[in-house]
Amino acid sequence: MTLIQQKGGAGKSTIAVNLAAVSGESNPPVSSDPDAPCPVVAAGIDPQGSLEGWARKVPEESLPFDYLVTKGRLGEIPKLLEDPDVLRVYVDTPGFVDLDPEAEIDDPDPLGSGPAGEAMREVLELTDLALVPIVPVETLTHSPAEFTIERVLRPRNIPFRVVINNWDSGADRTKADLEEMRTWCEDRGYPYMRQAVRRYKLHAKAPDSGLTVIQYPESGTALRGREDFYKLALAVEGVL
Ligand SMILES: Nc1ncnc2c1ncn2[C@@H]1O[C@H](COP(=O)(O)OP(=O)(O)OP(=O)(O)O)[C@@H](O)[C@H]1O
Ligand SMILES: [Mg+2]
Repeated sequence: MTLIQQKGGAGKSTIAVNLAAVSGESNPPVSSDPDAPCPVVAAGIDPQGSLEGWARKVPEESLPFDYLVTKGRLGEIPKLLEDPDVLRVYVDTPGFVDLDPEAEIDDPDPLGSGPAGEAMREVLELTDLALVPIVPVETLTHSPAEFTIERVLRPRNIPFRVVINNWDSGADRTKADLEEMRTWCEDRGYPYMRQAVRRYKLHAKAPDSGLTVIQYPESGTALRGREDFYKLALAVEGVL
């Protein structure tokens, strides 16, 4: 399962890490050996390693999932997927606007020929479901989502779902922004996840505080934030 969106900042890393957290919590290692591998893995192929920063702050021992940071090295994701103990891998990818500055906009494959493009192609080859995050109101995320779907996912026949992320449910009490995004998807024939991920400061602070949703201090907001990811994880399992 791969998070992909050409535009940075739509929530790929946030969603990958937190889906791994809630899914890992429900699927702990079968062995009680503390060194036993976890059936759930959050993997990052970003050469700049945005997941790596997160992994450094969130000690792996305290989490019910493993991290794999490939930094763009080839062969590691395929090897992981061959491991019979691995149940689910959530792959975080880089925004790819600048993957290959030489790539022309009308190239049949906009991922370019650089090493990051190669790493992306390797993952896409193995992707059983792609999640494409978009953010209501932030129109800068919309046409890159469309580009990602039309130019990268559909030509490869990769099943995908749009995920509406960072939805400000407090400000959007009438749900007009949410409905606008749903209509946006429907107009284009893009399947989307019914469960939107709401905007909470807890999530925005998470990369710095080094917490995943399963570790947030108990509060109403923490519960609601976690609920979104549990529901999203269930929906993902329903598709796979
Ligand atoms: N639901 C949310 N509520 C609050 N903040 C969020 C939410 N989702 C993402 N963010 C914040 O928005 C910022 C961008 O999110 P994130 O890093 O997950 O995006 P990304 O798609 O991985 O970006 P990049 O392509 O640069 O790696 C981060 O500061 C993150 O904490
Ligand atoms: Mg990221």
